[in-house]
Amino acid sequence: MQNIKAYLDQHKERFINELIELLKMPSVSADSAYSHDVLATAEAFATSLKNAGCDVVEICETDGYPIVYGEKIIDEKLPTVLVYGHYDVQPPDPLNLWDSPPFEPVIKKTDLHPDGAIYARGASDDKGQVYMHVKALEFMVTNNTLPCNIKFMIEGEEEVGSVSLSAFVKEHHEKLSNDIILISDTGLIANDIPSITTGLRGLSYVEVEVTGANRDLHSGLYGGAVANPINILAKMIATLHDENNHITIPGFYDKVDELTKEERAAMAKAPFDLDAYKKALDIQDIYGEKSYSTNERNSIRPTLDVNGIWGGYTGEGAKTVIPSKAYAKISMRLVPHQDWQEITRLFTQHFENIAPPGVRIKVNPHHGGESYVTPIDSIGYKAASKAFETTFGKVPVPKRNGGSIPIVPLFEEELGSKSILMGFGLDSNAIHSPNEHFGVWNYLKGIETIPYFYKYYTELFSQRT
Ligand code: BES
Ligand code: MN
Ligand code: MN
Repeated sequence: MQNIKAYLDQHKERFINELIELLKMPSVSADSAYSHDVLATAEAFATSLKNAGCDVVEICETDGYPIVYGEKIIDEKLPTVLVYGHYDVQPPDPLNLWDSPPFEPVIKKTDLHPDGAIYARGASDDKGQVYMHVKALEFMVTNNTLPCNIKFMIEGEEEVGSVSLSAFVKEHHEKLSNDIILISDTGLIANDIPSITTGLRGLSYVEVEVTGANRDLHSGLYGGAVANPINILAKMIATLHDENNHITIPGFYDKVDELTKEERAAMAKAPFDLDAYKKALDIQDIYGEKSYSTNERNSIRPTLDVNGIWGGYTGEGAKTVIPSKAYAKISMRLVPHQDWQEITRLFTQHFENIAPPGVRIKVNPHHGGESYVTPIDSIGYKAASKAFETTFGKVPVPKRNGGSIPIVPLFEEELGSKSILMGFGLDSNAIHSPNEHFGVWNYLKGIETIPYFYKYYTELFSQRT
């Protein structure tokens, strides 16, 4: 496939400009104010699939945002790869922390990205990474090198829990049938340390509400005599970790898959530069569960974090008040064998148990999903590994990741297929944060690498015994 490089050289300006157009569309799924833009983004991705050479392109309506489906079936006897990704993005706030507006993409050079990086919400998560696949398809169709069948399924609700996609997958086994699912929605260890994501954490997301008195009270007249829900909530949250940073919810760790010494030793071989890590985050020291390394803490260990906490008076100046209510959003990242619904129940029970009699507690579960691990002895993994080796000149490192893509375990349950997580982002891409960006080098490297996956996968598939 010598000519992918030539094709890239010839078309890279256009590839970048096309992505920039998609990044201008604010497809924020969490905020209904953007619903028109989310729908327009679905249309734009559908058009791009058509232009890249899909024979069938459909915008499949759901109860929520539509799913963009595309296919090019060249021969029923050949394997079928289903590409999954999402066209929705996270809300861009806080806007004042962006150096340039989130939906006005700009290319800037940085130390890490000497070829420039595209700054925009969704650049890395996930529009840029989905579009690599669209352009890889364009290349393969134009050059007559597509070796197998290909299906695309691009959803618009990944960032809000993939609710409509779950129903869609359950109803369309036949339409979505495939031999392997290919996803670019994760990252590499570094541009010179290619890696393949072999695991994702599960998630349980809850919102808690603590209620004290039936109204906000004067903090002089009532202070000291009735429970302050914010004080109580802060205290309760503080007890959820012990002095070793273990989570204190009874039963929380019961099903956690503990890795063997050998597995941990293998993990420890993945390169990690502690000083660079601290420097990049501007922290004096790392923090986390006792007896585990940073790489373990953020991948094979479960966590509990407050994502937001509010209540009372936060306006200008002072208001002497004991609020009636306090709230927090809490996420728990889960690891293999933990069941997210069970963890949600354990959390709820525990949170109710530790509340003092002076307050009432409500726990509202949001969404969640299971964790995922992919075997490295499969032909899918081997094909991805060979593809990286071809274009990066190095065998990629298998690495479990801390993020979650809850639909991936559901694909396995419903469609019986494994997913290969071939991501080209970097942890430093600031996904979900202000100044999200995606390296131009990473974008082009993705387009260069993906066609090799199809080639090697199809070869290995035909040699299967
Ligand atoms: N692409 C991310 C997940 C991710 C990023 C996994 C980097 C591994 C490495 C995805 O879009 C995401 O943000 N997932 C959410 C879960 C979802 C239910 C909102 C997450 O992990 O918080
Ligand atoms: Mn994503
Ligand atoms: Mn995301």
